[in-house]
Amino acid sequence: MTMFNFNAIPSQKGRIAIVTGANTGLGYETALGLASKDCKVIMSCRNKDKAEKAMADIRKEVPNADLEFIKLDLQNSLKSVRGIRESLQRKA
Ligand SMILES: NC(=O)c1ccc[n+]([C@@H]2O[C@H](COP(=O)([O-])OP(=O)(O)OC[C@H]3O[C@@H](n4cnc5c(N)ncnc54)[C@H](OP(=O)(O)O)[C@@H]3O)[C@@H](O)[C@H]2O)c1
Repeated sequence: MTMFNFNAIPSQKGRIAIVTGANTGLGYETALGLASKDCKVIMSCRNKDKAEKAMADIRKEVPNADLEFIKLDLQNSLKSVRGIRESLQRKA
């Protein structure tokens, strides 16, 4: 059986990933892993303070991490869902 090997993941330079729930748990680890592979990571979280703490923690491990916060509350705010769509369209 082939085992997952993080080191085998190629550079993600030039790519942009949107990671929901990026401030903790699986989302945080995904954001950290992608940032360490030079991917730009858009941290979409519902709490700005938690997102900024997570971004600071990632930058301790990956000083040149290309991170950006976008507020997204999937449960309580359809406005924030529309907001992230419009924000991403402006970046495209
Ligand atoms: N951890 C595991 O081993 C494991 C295994 C299998 C499946 N899962 C599933 O995978 C998912 C993530 O697991 P996890 O351990 O990473 O969970 P977690 O540590 O609880 O993280 C959940 C993330 O989702 C965010 N979130 C929750 N509700 C949200 C909402 N309405 N809008 C925007 N963001 C919201 C949380 O933000 P806040 O910090 O602001 O609450 C947090 O960033 C869960 O559904 C879990 O059941 C986990």
